[in-house]
Amino acid sequence: MESVFTGEVSVTDVSVRRLGLHDLRDCLLLAIDRQWLPEEAKWRLLFEVGEVYGIDDPAGGLAGTAVLTRYGRRLAAVSMVLVASRYGRMGLGRRLMLRALDEAGGATVFLTATRYGRGLYEKLGFEAVGTVARHIGHLRLTPADLTHAGIRPARQADLGAVIALDAHASGATRTHLITRLFTFAERLRVVERGGEIIGFGAAWRNVDSVVVGPVIAETTALARTLITGLVNGLYGPVRLDIDTRHAELAAWAESRGALRVDATALMVHGGPLPGARDHIFTPVMVALG
Ligand SMILES: CC(C)(COP(=O)(O)OP(=O)(O)OC[C@H]1O[C@@H](n2cnc3c(N)ncnc32)[C@H](O)[C@@H]1OP(=O)(O)O)[C@@H](O)C(=O)NCCC(=O)NCCS
Repeated sequence: MESVFTGEVSVTDVSVRRLGLHDLRDCLLLAIDRQWLPEEAKWRLLFEVGEVYGIDDPAGGLAGTAVLTRYGRRLAAVSMVLVASRYGRMGLGRRLMLRALDEAGGATVFLTATRYGRGLYEKLGFEAVGTVARHIGHLRLTPADLTHAGIRPARQADLGAVIALDAHASGATRTHLITRLFTFAERLRVVERGGEIIGFGAAWRNVDSVVVGPVIAETTALARTLITGLVNGLYGPVRLDIDTRHAELAAWAESRGALRVDATALMVHGGPLPGARDHIFTPVMVALG
């Protein structure tokens, strides 16, 4: 057992444990401590599709968290790496990340890093491979945007085709996540041409915005069609996390009022990301890819 001391409080047991839904409230409080929003729906989904790890704070609540979401045996995402500000720079973030990497068992692991986390991930061998920009705003769509050839709400019968489309783009089978998305999302749309599903998109409601993700398509035009179909008539500001390599989509989003507010680095550990990544215009959420 190791000790970490910080003023009056000490973490006498810095062992990492698997958290359960009963820890949800403490996860939200930890997020608030770091000026993150208490995103309850998002955490609930992560508890369902991923594994949440944490370090207890002997003073009560949690001192840190990290979430590992596996996509088969070869790919995994890490997210919600949070350490309470009172325990910053004492090695807890590193401890949580080492546990997540250990649990990943040699899979390629990816995450998006804030400027606070980047130094930690680099030390652990992660490499930056891209940038994901967060765009937020009320989309002002034009009549031309609203010509939606072939777009329609997704039906349960589309699930298999959507899972296959997602698997091609992400390079891993994400059956559990995509299946859950069919009830988690507020809206689901597919584009069908010649009897084939060629595009898929979802929009789900977070605390401060409606997140449009994933958007999976072969072309920017198709991605735009999906986004407009998803947000048209929706209440509230929209959030789009756009990989900066999709400059055309980012420019269109900006021109319609979804302004770039900040960006995170896409980082990878243990090999390149698989799949036809350029078909992913926005992720389900940055926590999941
Ligand atoms: C990022 C975060 C999880 C780091 O946790 P932590 O417990 O403070 O990190 P550690 O003490 O394990 O740091 C390990 C190493 O990471 C690097 N590091 C950690 N915080 C850093 C910072 N703010 N700036 C630069 N490097 C940093 C350092 O190299 C550090 O080693 P050192 O202290 O020996 O120099 C924590 O600062 C945090 O919760 N920040 C707010 C939320 C956030 O942005 N999370 C990242 C999401 S991607």
